[in-house]
Amino acid sequence: MNGFSAAWLDLREPADVAARAPELLERLSEWSGQHEHVTVADLGSGTGSCLRAIAPHMSPRQSWRLIDRSGVLLDEAVTRLSKWAHQRSLSARVEQNVWRFMGKISDYSVVFEEQDLATGPGNTGSVVDLVTVSAVLDLVSKEWCSNLARWCSEKGAALYTCLNYDGQFHFAPSHPDDSDVRSVVNTHQRSDKGMGPALGSSAIEVLAEALSAAKYQFVVAPSPWLLGSDNSALQSALVRDWSDLVFRQGDKYAARVSRWRNFRMAAIKARQSHLSVGHVDLWAWPKA
Ligand SMILES: C[S@@+](CC[C@H](N)C(=O)[O-])C[C@H]1O[C@@H](n2cnc3c(N)ncnc32)[C@H](O)[C@@H]1O
Repeated sequence: MNGFSAAWLDLREPADVAARAPELLERLSEWSGQHEHVTVADLGSGTGSCLRAIAPHMSPRQSWRLIDRSGVLLDEAVTRLSKWAHQRSLSARVEQNVWRFMGKISDYSVVFEEQDLATGPGNTGSVVDLVTVSAVLDLVSKEWCSNLARWCSEKGAALYTCLNYDGQFHFAPSHPDDSDVRSVVNTHQRSDKGMGPALGSSAIEVLAEALSAAKYQFVVAPSPWLLGSDNSALQSALVRDWSDLVFRQGDKYAARVSRWRNFRMAAIKARQSHLSVGHVDLWAWPKA
């Protein structure tokens, strides 16, 4: 989706906040209540939206490592987290590249690490209580999932992975070409994005197998985007990106996909378009 620009991540952040499965956030909250201090590794952190979404659900003393291959997005993360902290009346200071956001109760320290996680979590610190992977799994391979499960197990860490696309999207009103567009999108999902042959919508299934092999227990819950007229900009961006993927299939599809795009954009403009995009969240922990 538009590469992974900060603008794209900003556009999706409110929809992500609304979508994350509340029952798994509750599990996360209960689990973190057993820790005085939680150390988190956020893999493919982008601009830090996972921290902003889940930190308030956890016990207040937290150390985060935000890891991403894009230094540009990590710079944007600093800006966005500083603004977020300010809105919550947290003080901010930085010492030797460790950011500290503190309030009456909260104490979050954050480091930003530019690292290519092409083959999985590698050199990401010795103590990790919680691994978070938000809107990333569809990019990774089967081997990456195995490495993730093994690494969590070595650390004895819990795992929270959210907003994993499940291969389904549905518009209302519907259009006869919706399913053809969806099949092009889902095929594209499986192309290599730099983390091995991408699993796309089967990532959760594959990860679940890897977690079972690593003796983890897990629960899953749906976290769909339910987009209406308040999310016109996000709907438009998705329609543009998805139709661009079809245009890239060749000229013979151009007229048809142009009609589809025009139909979709007109419905969005008329505030009559509703779009659900299926996602799944997963919470996993080592068997006692
Ligand atoms: C859809 S974004 C999700 C960002 C963030 N987790 C969120 O929920 O908003 C995918 C992220 O994965 C990162 N990414 C993609 N390939 C990567 C790689 N090989 N190593 C590290 N990060 C990668 C991208 O830079 C981007 O920030």
